[in-house]
Amino acid sequence: MPGFQAPAGTFDVLPPESSRYEALVGRFAGHVARAGYGSAITPMFEDVGVFERLGQSTDVVRKEMYDFEDKGGRRLALRPEGTASVVRAYVQRRPTLPFKAWYVGPIFRYERPQAGRYRQHHQLGIEALGSDDPDLDVEVMALAAGFYASLGLTRVRLRLTSLGDAACRPAYRDQLQGYLEARADRLCEEHRDRIAENPLRILDCKRDACRAAAADAPRMVGHLCEQCRSHFGRVTAGLTALGVAFELDPSLVRGLDYYTRTTFEFTSDALEFAHSGAGGGGRYDGLVESLGGPPTPGIGFGLGIERILLTCDAEGVFPAPGLGLDVFVLDTTGGEQARDVTAELRAAGLRTDRAFDQRSWKAQMKAALRSEAPLAVVLEDGEASIRTLQEKGEAERADRGTLVEHVRKKLGELR
Ligand code: HAM
Repeated sequence: MPGFQAPAGTFDVLPPESSRYEALVGRFAGHVARAGYGSAITPMFEDVGVFERLGQSTDVVRKEMYDFEDKGGRRLALRPEGTASVVRAYVQRRPTLPFKAWYVGPIFRYERPQAGRYRQHHQLGIEALGSDDPDLDVEVMALAAGFYASLGLTRVRLRLTSLGDAACRPAYRDQLQGYLEARADRLCEEHRDRIAENPLRILDCKRDACRAAAADAPRMVGHLCEQCRSHFGRVTAGLTALGVAFELDPSLVRGLDYYTRTTFEFTSDALEFAHSGAGGGGRYDGLVESLGGPPTPGIGFGLGIERILLTCDAEGVFPAPGLGLDVFVLDTTGGEQARDVTAELRAAGLRTDRAFDQRSWKAQMKAALRSEAPLAVVLEDGEASIRTLQEKGEAERADRGTLVEHVRKKLGELR
């Protein structure tokens, strides 16, 4: 009988590749902690209503949600994004504002699996609630841009626009609706009859028909009210002052409906497939209220871990760091000595692995070389010796009583 496979659109991350995931998360945690973000851990599933607030007209909610009824008859959904969960947690717990949190975790979307697009992907994200200061928009985008740069990436571009707010968007929406209605017969089949539902979404349709029909459609950024225009001006001035490169992209439309004002995406020129989005985010000044909280502005981003790592591969940066072992223990006398010495080295804080099953000297040596540890402790005939593994060097006799110090000294010489 053939074995089971991971479900379509999902994958396993095993060592040594998993060390790269871990290193990425560690790097991100340190990066955003320096800006005052603490980690938020929320459930991977929520009441389906939490996510329905993201917009019934979005694919993420309408078509791609993993929703189900649990054994108690509750309607739940695996989270299709991270923002709604953090906002739900804020509304429920009401931590002091401003509330700045980062998160990492799996995200579930029933999409058509293809290169760079999965049914379970992983995101690194931040959310900042409680301030509508344009400097916070600058902070959030600068943090994402700085993170990509810290990995050595040079081909990630920030694209930016403003989607206005409750004051200026309705009038724009009406205008766009009129424009699209006059061209309804030229839109794709899916959108022909759905103009009134969410005309902005049609600007995001990838089908040629919609793209051609909407090519000259009015864009929000040309219809901002005074407050939104001034906010956006402060944002772009702030990015310029901090040296964060960006491009204005009035055609930017995001896949979620909660965005207001500043909205952005990071795309990589190094990714050749259709999905070059390495991250995205923006303001969502109405979301807290729509989830039952008091009016509270918010902004954040989500970065796809897999997309970032694919970009790193394409640019040849941020390789997997591996396990980072210090020493590998070989024992040709039955294994008991290896048991004790390994425990001693680990207790002293040295990253140590060993061979099992009383394998031959040759097999143990092969395992030692594969481990990528720089040093081996060899136990044979009642004697211990220390050898360099990755570079040729003489074996040094070692005294059992001072073995730990000896290994430390040798590691120091090698580094
Ligand atoms: P999003 O643009 O839907 O935004 O997703 C963020 C990032 O997750 C994308 O830029 C992409 O890198 C990655 N991603 C999305 N879908 C997939 C997939 N199927 N396979 C692989 N990677 C994927 C959000 O989710 C918002 N919650 C971001 C945000 C936070 N906005 C404000 N705060």
